[in-house]
Amino acid sequence: MTGPGTAGGSGTTGGLSVRVEGLVHIYRLHETEVVALRGVDLQIAAGETVTLFGPSGSGKSTLLAALSGLIRPSAGTVRIGDDDIGRLSERELSRLRLGRVATLLQGAGRNLLPYATPAQNVAFAQRGASRRRAAPAADLLADLDLGDVADAPLGALSGGELQRVAIAAAVAGGPGLLLADEPTSQLDLAGRDAVIATLQRVNERFGTTVVAVTHDREVGERLGRQVVMRAGRVGEEGRGEERFVVVGADGALHLPLGERDQWPAGTLVEVRRDGEDLRLVRRRQP
Ligand SMILES: Nc1ncnc2c1ncn2[C@@H]1O[C@H](COP(=O)(O)OP(=O)(O)OP(=O)(O)O)[C@@H](O)[C@H]1O
Ligand SMILES: [Mg+2]
Repeated sequence: MTGPGTAGGSGTTGGLSVRVEGLVHIYRLHETEVVALRGVDLQIAAGETVTLFGPSGSGKSTLLAALSGLIRPSAGTVRIGDDDIGRLSERELSRLRLGRVATLLQGAGRNLLPYATPAQNVAFAQRGASRRRAAPAADLLADLDLGDVADAPLGALSGGELQRVAIAAAVAGGPGLLLADEPTSQLDLAGRDAVIATLQRVNERFGTTVVAVTHDREVGERLGRQVVMRAGRVGEEGRGEERFVVVGADGALHLPLGERDQWPAGTLVEVRRDGEDLRLVRRRQP
């Protein structure tokens, strides 16, 4: 069912699932068009923690913006929990963003009120959230190991602490989905590790599904499932040490980056069936 009741999410707790099918997004600038997403298919279970990798321009931020409803994709569907967000009105979408879906923009400072303390930031972020889901600001900050800085001016906080306060404010309304764009960039190792721990804590404590963009392999390995974007599509996935390429809706496979030099574009490949599996055999020059 779609409507303000589900979009605003009064009373539901725990994580939200994400189901993306055939997502295409084209930015139109004057005369030119940039195809940022070329058919993304991705499913994320409720309560999963996922990182998005990929080269600059591969569509990571655009995908996050589509998941939060900040942009309306050119084609395809995005389901967050039971809501097909393409069918929500602007009003329903803003309710979704105020309540069940939280976005952390790149750069901690952009997510915080500069002249307010962490406790005031968290309290402000809770406006409009269901009282039942929202923990008191002091409790939430203490729970995320930020109790000591709850009433400090933001200027006195380290980069890692600022980012963790931004996460606290983002989840203050008890969201089911947290979307974070490069939450550990520009941090030292200690700050980065503390931010990872905070994201994990939020996931354990509230069951929040976490999707974070990162360029840092270690962040990906620690948060679990890694989805690699390549030229506007999901190209590869990793879990722990394992790496998989992902079959697109059109049947296309992206070669792992390390193999590209051996198999340049235009290489002829024979696909041989081998029981349930397929083997890819490059055609040798005659
Ligand atoms: N507002 C916009 N208007 C026009 N083109 C855009 C806009 N935002 C992104 N693009 C283009 O869309 C493509 C995907 O961009 P996106 O920002 O999603 O990539 P990204 O993977 O987040 O890159 P980065 O790692 O640099 O942040 C790029 O070609 C980019 O230039
Ligand atoms: Mg980006």
